[in-house]
Amino acid sequence: MQMTRKVVETRDGLPFLISGSGTLGWDQVAANLVEPGENVLVLQTGYFGAGFADCIKVYGGKPKVLKAPYGSHIGLEEIEVALRTKKYKAITITHVDTSTGVLSDVKAIAATVRRTSPDTLVVVDGVCSVGSEELKMDAWRLDVVTTASQKGLGVPPGLCILVASPRAIEVFEARKTPVTTYFASWGKWMPVMRAYDNKTAAYFATPPVNLIRAYHASLSEITKLSPSLDERYRIHKQVSRRVKALADQLGLSLVPKDTAYAANGMTAIYLPDGLVASDVVPRMASKGITIAAGLGDAKDKYIRIGHMGTSVVDAERGDIDRIAKSLQASLNEAKNAKKAVVEETP
Ligand SMILES: Cc1ncc(COP(=O)(O)O)c(C=O)c1O
Repeated sequence: MQMTRKVVETRDGLPFLISGSGTLGWDQVAANLVEPGENVLVLQTGYFGAGFADCIKVYGGKPKVLKAPYGSHIGLEEIEVALRTKKYKAITITHVDTSTGVLSDVKAIAATVRRTSPDTLVVVDGVCSVGSEELKMDAWRLDVVTTASQKGLGVPPGLCILVASPRAIEVFEARKTPVTTYFASWGKWMPVMRAYDNKTAAYFATPPVNLIRAYHASLSEITKLSPSLDERYRIHKQVSRRVKALADQLGLSLVPKDTAYAANGMTAIYLPDGLVASDVVPRMASKGITIAAGLGDAKDKYIRIGHMGTSVVDAERGDIDRIAKSLQASLNEAKNAKKAVVEETP
């Protein structure tokens, strides 16, 4: 519990460590903090923002989606205008939308919300950012940070990690309507998490003890003094610049239109004309490197490379060099294979 607080930089936030994937964080927010009919401003910078809006609707909330043009972020003025137009119970920000690799400026957005609409809860989907992007829950006055085990925290998938501010807990406790989820109910989980805090046991549903052990091992690494969290973020930025420069050298463009708003723990790269993701992803796999195709409407046109956690912090592994070499080789092989097909066609 204490190390979870450390990694999102909060003193009094209450962690909820629950068996489930990152999506369970959306359910917790939508079911516990939003009451039926309440408005939620959803910032959509890709596929995952749309998913969050969908989830809010399922529990009766009314999401208003501000959708960024593909590969772009949402400007602060647009957010401010929206907040002045209507009363919103919460705003959701996808810190890094893993589908596009767009990074949102959570610090600036949270400050805008606090200034324009102080009662609006600031909710951050940090599934693709916690551990790899700077995120300071207390200093930036965030109400919820939700994430999952499998990305920057370097643990197998299956553990949902959500931290709620004391203000978010107060809002939950002041609900007028009953919560319409069983497994994701904070009412059920709060006594368990408070017991964990007091180093005692409590039961609501079986915890994923195997994942908790792995999570404990990983957080022990991440929260140790050296490299510090700030140093980790700096290393992620440095490696990210290297991967983005590699794309540039290969003549490829990035999905994020502005590198100032591009994630540091992953890179989404458009493929050259004539190639699709399935030409490259299996070739990388055959060299021992797992990357992903795109996600959403343009999914075949680009690839996504993760560079977070141990891969970047432990430079001796040489992971980034191997990615660079394999990517170059895979693109050449794919281009040559296409050329051969064209030449063979009568
Ligand atoms: C930003 C973001 N939010 C939410 C999710 C959903 O998490 P999960 O697939 O673990 O349910 C993901 C998954 O990659 C994600 O990247």
